[in-house]
Amino acid sequence: MEFITYEQEGFVGIITINRPKALNALNSQVLEELAATFKAVDLETTRCLVLTGAGEKSFVAGADIGEMSTLTKAEGEAFGKKGNDVFRMIETFPIPVIAAINGFALGGGCEISMSCDIRICSDNAVFGQPEVGLGITPGFGGTQRLARLVGEGMAKQMIYTARNIKADEAYRIGLVNAVYTLEELLPAAKKMAAGIAANAPIAVRNCKKAINDGMQVDMDQAIVIEEKLFGDCFETEDQKAGMGNFLEKDKEKKLKVVPFQNK
Ligand code: CAA
Repeated sequence: MEFITYEQEGFVGIITINRPKALNALNSQVLEELAATFKAVDLETTRCLVLTGAGEKSFVAGADIGEMSTLTKAEGEAFGKKGNDVFRMIETFPIPVIAAINGFALGGGCEISMSCDIRICSDNAVFGQPEVGLGITPGFGGTQRLARLVGEGMAKQMIYTARNIKADEAYRIGLVNAVYTLEELLPAAKKMAAGIAANAPIAVRNCKKAINDGMQVDMDQAIVIEEKLFGDCFETEDQKAGMGNFLEKDKEKKLKVVPFQNK
């Protein structure tokens, strides 16, 4: 891998997009390496992922403008699909992915963060969909996910005006869950990931699937999806151990992490 690094800390995997000379912009190679990195994650030993960018200035400054500049209509569509396929893989990845946004998250950078389950950022982060200023539409899911996350009116404003927003505004409109200093960001992301990894992994995965799948259908269908995934948990040792610990009324045991299954 030239542009992606992967580190494992306990049950947490940290994926870093590492192309600092182009502010971690996403060219085809970065997208391919990202896909290969996600495919290689060992789901037996990994329960949560953190996605971040190398350096102190940029998370991801967008899709690579140099690469896009000469594309034909068909090539443009294919490039959009390439990004969309990777981002959809992230969105539907069985375990949670936390985006730790350490600077610019523009265009494809904002879009990749929105394919993650949770977004937290540093106070120097800048978000935006500048595509219409370049003569294109957001092409890696921005026209779809931004409206779902912050509402149609705010998404349309951001996309039509191509105006960037700072971390505090991203927090105010619900695009990110929390803002940290740059030094605090990665430790906070790892701490959150470790907290998630300490919970029953099958239950966490089922929660992700229930929320993701349920958001795509009406409430009547959504609650059936929930019921099925809720029911599945009762076949796990985690459910028996977790509830057993509670019923023993032993405070120490109640809080103790049970030897969770990960399949
Ligand atoms: N693609 C390719 N290269 C990029 C890039 C991008 N998206 N963003 C930055 N770079 C490169 C610059 O060309 C520059 O390279 P050189 O040193 O070789 O000239 C290097 O990164 C550093 O960038 P700057 O000198 O511009 O740094 P700056 O601090 O002055 O500005 C910035 C930072 C405001 C982020 C500016 O680089 C910028 O505006 N970048 C483009 C952001 C953008 O428009 N992103 C959306 C792309 S379109 C998209 O993503 C479509 C989609 O939905 C799929």
